[in-house]
Amino acid sequence: MNNRRQEKSVSDKIYDVPAEWTTRAFVDDAKYNEMYARSISHSNGFWAEQAKRLNWSHAPTKIENTSFAPGKISIKWFEDGVLNAAYNCIDRHLPKRANQTAIIWEGDDPSQSKHISYQELHDEVCKMANVLRNRNVGKGDRVTIYLPMIPEAAYAMLACARIGAVHSVVFAGFSPDSLAQRITDCQSKIIITADEGLRGGKKVPLKNNVDAAVAKAGGVDWVVVVKHTGTPVNMDPARDFWYREAAEVVTTECPCEPMNAEDPLFILYTSGSTGQPKGVLHTTGGYLLFASMTHQYVFDYHEGDIYWCTADVGWVTGHSYILYGPLANGATTLMFEGVPNYPSMSRFWEVIDKHKVNIFYTAPTAIRALMQAGDEPVKKTSRKSLRLLGSVGEPINPEAWEWYYHVVGEARAPIVDTWWQTETGGILITPLPGATKLKPGSATRPFFGVVPEIVDADGKVLDGETSGNLCIAKSWPGQMRTVYGDHARFEQTYFSTYKNKYFTGDGCRRDADGYYWITGRVDDVINVSGHRMGTAEVESSLVAHEKVSEAAVVGYPHDIKGQGIYAYVTLMNGVEPTEELRKELVAWVRKDIGPIASPDLIQFAPGLPKTRSGKIMRRILRKIAEDEPSSLGDTSTLADPAVVTDLVEHRQNKR
Ligand code: WTA
Repeated sequence: MNNRRQEKSVSDKIYDVPAEWTTRAFVDDAKYNEMYARSISHSNGFWAEQAKRLNWSHAPTKIENTSFAPGKISIKWFEDGVLNAAYNCIDRHLPKRANQTAIIWEGDDPSQSKHISYQELHDEVCKMANVLRNRNVGKGDRVTIYLPMIPEAAYAMLACARIGAVHSVVFAGFSPDSLAQRITDCQSKIIITADEGLRGGKKVPLKNNVDAAVAKAGGVDWVVVVKHTGTPVNMDPARDFWYREAAEVVTTECPCEPMNAEDPLFILYTSGSTGQPKGVLHTTGGYLLFASMTHQYVFDYHEGDIYWCTADVGWVTGHSYILYGPLANGATTLMFEGVPNYPSMSRFWEVIDKHKVNIFYTAPTAIRALMQAGDEPVKKTSRKSLRLLGSVGEPINPEAWEWYYHVVGEARAPIVDTWWQTETGGILITPLPGATKLKPGSATRPFFGVVPEIVDADGKVLDGETSGNLCIAKSWPGQMRTVYGDHARFEQTYFSTYKNKYFTGDGCRRDADGYYWITGRVDDVINVSGHRMGTAEVESSLVAHEKVSEAAVVGYPHDIKGQGIYAYVTLMNGVEPTEELRKELVAWVRKDIGPIASPDLIQFAPGLPKTRSGKIMRRILRKIAEDEPSSLGDTSTLADPAVVTDLVEHRQNKR
């Protein structure tokens, strides 16, 4: 997508797998090759064996029933199996692990932390489940969860799973409008929130946001409010109630609803290249199995390990690798409310020392930000417990990889650079620590059962060393099943560009060793600090402002965020382009969508480059934003080629 970053992301270094990693790991190179081959050649047998890692009340006899054929897209795994995700994450561990810590919660304030045992988790989840049941929430009902990173977020998700309700977690950084949109789309009648969130010492008015969202969305009968900061909030007696009060009058026992493997487990909204966010739907059996299996093999998770994934439960990484994967494996998982730079740049490493974390999984944007602060804040901590490091969310540039490896991990800990998506449910391309030689910047090789294909613009499958668009040729159990309420959109988005394959939206290179290097999105999605943003969403927010006539949004390389948001804005006739207006527009989008969508740069553009038929030529806008005016390509098809000269001349933030 952009040359500068692609150049940087090429590194010739190879790190061999030291003997001590292989000795400990579940899989060495020979075993990887053998298991991978079998996962493809005897797929049904392979996955039938893997299904035994879960506890089923009716074990599946049918394994895979999937079709990527045009007009017949259908994905079913283990379709006659019956199980419950909460039972698999909690109850089945109780005989052995009742007193083992399930969740370590570390607050935003470093003096706050607590350990929640599997027994306590069971009791808290049952209470939350009973509170929901008392409000008539049952199998198939949608529950919107808008909570900060507090234990109640885990209780709420697992409580839904326990009673068969479908959770839709909305990241607590989203605006009331974004929340309202998501409530409306899945028509949830109940919202679980808190008085306020707390991040880096700053308060986030969650309950106020819910009030505004519910007023807009309508149809909400109940708002459950967790008291977190204790700030007084408005309570509507007909609709709102305090969680603790309701939980006091229910028992700590609640039966698990038997769920078919293909019954929905959750909806998670994600940005696409067009229109409104899509409700990605995951079902119970295949998702849980894939989350559990990848968590074990990719992180080489062993009994007793302390595992920390720094994501937020509002994103898929939090679903699969804070909650479902680790808990299905009976692990101790750390849940962190705060941010990497509060109260100091050493926070991550201090938390690692405090809780003796062995496995640490974070995003390149955090690594780059911490790297900028130098080695000192890292080196003053011990990090002796660390055994494995992980990266997710965006391509990691080799400089950041090397720093993570040498400074944070002291060359002791392998880095697993895991490529996957909300849609894939779990990790698809990744090193396995005891098996895979590492190359900084490469996600390396496919996980079991995953068949990556690189295709050219016409869909021709390219062999050997090559680059193009990344597709997956065969279904895997963690694959999303549909877009909630819109199966046609599911087919259109993922299966219409290239026939008979799932199209990821990512560009990719394969090197001579068969290693995969993800180069970034090839559609109109940008990845800002590991968060997916549809450029169309930011554009429609901008044009909703009364002074804006037209807007086009693209990504540009940003040292910390990976990509920043670059907006070209054409103002209404007679409106003055001022610094003030620039600030006003940034604040407008921030309020409309949420802070993660704030444009980093706004260029006032008297005209946008359009074809004669009126289509905006984004390729040109991207090149200008990337400061590559010499590679604009052919501009002769433009209706007015002169606009380009003006745009280049007034590019923001010239290097
Ligand atoms: C990008 C997050 C390179 C990619 C789990 C993908 C990555 C999008 C990597 C999905 C990685 C994720 N290397 N790029 N290791 N991991 N991506 O849905 O562009 O929030 O399509 O899921 O993030 O983002 P999502």
